[in-house]
Amino acid sequence: MSDSAQRQGDAFENLLHEERRFPPSEEFAAQALAQPSLYEEARSRGTEFWADQARACLSWETDFTQTLDWSEAPFAKWFVGGKLNAAYNALDRHVEEGRGDRVAIHFEGEPGDTRSYTYAELTESVKKAANAFESLGVQKGDRVAVYLPMIPEAVITMLACARIGAVHSVVFGGFSADALRSRIDDAEAKLVVTADGTYRRGKPSALKPAVDAALEKEGSTITNVVVVRRNNEPVEWTEGRDVWWDDVVDTASSEHTAVAHDSEHPLFILYTSGTTGKPKGILHTTGGFLTQTAFTHKYTFDLRPETDVFWCTADIGWVTGHSYVTYAPLINGATQLMYEGTPDTPHQGRWWELIEKYKVSILYTAPTAIRTFMKWGRDIPKKYDLSSVRVLGSVGEPINPEAWMWYREIIGGGKAPIVDTWWQTETGAHMISPMPGVTSTKPGSAQVAVPGIAVDVVDEMGQSVPNGSGGYLVVREPWPSMLRGIWGDPERFKQTYWSRFDDMYFAGDGAKKDEDGDIWLLGRVDDVMNVSGHRLSTTEIESALVSHPSVAEAAVVGAKDETTGEAVVAFVILRGSAKDDDDIVTTLRNHVGKEIGPIAKPRNILVVPELPKTRSGKIMRRLLKDVAEGREVGDATTLADNTVMQQIAASLRK
Ligand code: PRX
Repeated sequence: MSDSAQRQGDAFENLLHEERRFPPSEEFAAQALAQPSLYEEARSRGTEFWADQARACLSWETDFTQTLDWSEAPFAKWFVGGKLNAAYNALDRHVEEGRGDRVAIHFEGEPGDTRSYTYAELTESVKKAANAFESLGVQKGDRVAVYLPMIPEAVITMLACARIGAVHSVVFGGFSADALRSRIDDAEAKLVVTADGTYRRGKPSALKPAVDAALEKEGSTITNVVVVRRNNEPVEWTEGRDVWWDDVVDTASSEHTAVAHDSEHPLFILYTSGTTGKPKGILHTTGGFLTQTAFTHKYTFDLRPETDVFWCTADIGWVTGHSYVTYAPLINGATQLMYEGTPDTPHQGRWWELIEKYKVSILYTAPTAIRTFMKWGRDIPKKYDLSSVRVLGSVGEPINPEAWMWYREIIGGGKAPIVDTWWQTETGAHMISPMPGVTSTKPGSAQVAVPGIAVDVVDEMGQSVPNGSGGYLVVREPWPSMLRGIWGDPERFKQTYWSRFDDMYFAGDGAKKDEDGDIWLLGRVDDVMNVSGHRLSTTEIESALVSHPSVAEAAVVGAKDETTGEAVVAFVILRGSAKDDDDIVTTLRNHVGKEIGPIAKPRNILVVPELPKTRSGKIMRRLLKDVAEGREVGDATTLADNTVMQQIAASLRK
């Protein structure tokens, strides 16, 4: 067993001593949408279970004739022959069915400005945006890059693309100009939709300059940039290319007919970090993605669209923002809250103030946020009325039992069930999660597969491990919202996910089954880090570091961090000409920020004389991880030069 597997094992041993169980209250269980019969139904119906859900959750213009075509595995086709429009499903049909006056989005800006959109208003805005984008030449199949803050225009833009059949590629606003450009190039996007900026910690924060910088170098496929006015800061303007949202969208016609697209028509591309330096464009299509996101949103959160107020705190730049902000809540006709800013602006009680104000009943957030609130202290949320909260969700990384208990007690009033949802950009929707009215929850475990999903934990040979053992998390059967590929790279798709084990999707995560068969996630087993629930690749940051003229070599590891889960720690060897002083650390951190984005800036950069390598030249990251986490260094016998770790230790003592 490798050291890291050993460490994961030790962590799991501690978790096994977790004896606490929280069954749903009788009251909750009795009224819950998901009953034990849902699992039974999924088992007995097999793949047809998903046909039932596709018809229950969505309006199809043309019904499908085949539920799943897996003949070209691993390239799946779901709901074959079916035709539907995602935006029609999220908007028009609610209006047609008399729900036009229901609030779809309550928006709260960081400075405190508010806007609410009813379903009728949001439908009208999306129709206008669709007309505007079409007038700029966007057609079915074209790619549109979206580089926007958390404002309603982000949702409007995504749905306008879906309405046309254009494929959106949202790039998180915290990514740099270079990262934006490489994503624009890879997808050959035609249009960028951005904003002058947003507000961050009480101050205007710019976005448009990054778009300008991204498009500076010649040869881009972009013909227009649509700019939303958000913070009214002055921006540079390229005549002929840049247009204001107000000028093109607000003046457009509000008549727009949604044409139905094939169930397998591409809906979006979302780039995520893999184990190489080049991000992967994860491709999702329409019918399957919408079915599973809507289904899970309804049952995992026990959603009552007439009365609930749902709040998913994820940014639109991540998959959680796609599945559980833009698509599922609107498909399900829910009312949701969207908040632009940071949790501590203007004070550390902002989130709880928002919950009280909007009577949020379902909160879906990440463990890193919960741990931050724990640090700030329970007195802050205690000042607010959180009695509206009835279901809590967690996503993005393993939630430690202390954070889980705090979440339950302080935010959930000791009674709201917590659903710890495991899934990925690639899976599109929840795959492992308790059902809030059925599962007796365990602090720290995601527990059971969603009805209709076949996950397992297997050993090196791909054999299912018995309860009480650990291994690799896999998915054994295709699922509706599975990725359909990596944009432009079918080989990489097969290689990355389908080559490790025969006929199984390998998720890249380690996991264990406890004595009851419940699943505990143990983190990534590959070179992908999870910082504050955001995926970063060690290789990508290493490439960024070595692209700086002062750096000869770099190795990056994820080290445990109390708040962010993992933190980026970089070891660098400088070129002979470069000076090792404080400035170089700041310079390199900023360089990574420029190359990838502020989220990728290493927490620590350690300048070292050598890096530990095997005889074949592979960097032994686990030894560096020991150093980064302040542990005694593990077995170093396979090093080509076994004095390297001593040299590193000596250099760090200096
Ligand atoms: O390691 C797992 C972790 O996040 C990875 C997926 O990251 P991303 O594609 O950015 O999507 C994040 C939001 C779905 C997984 O491979 N992860 C996600 N949810 C959990 C989790 N780890 C433990 N428990 C979770 N609930």
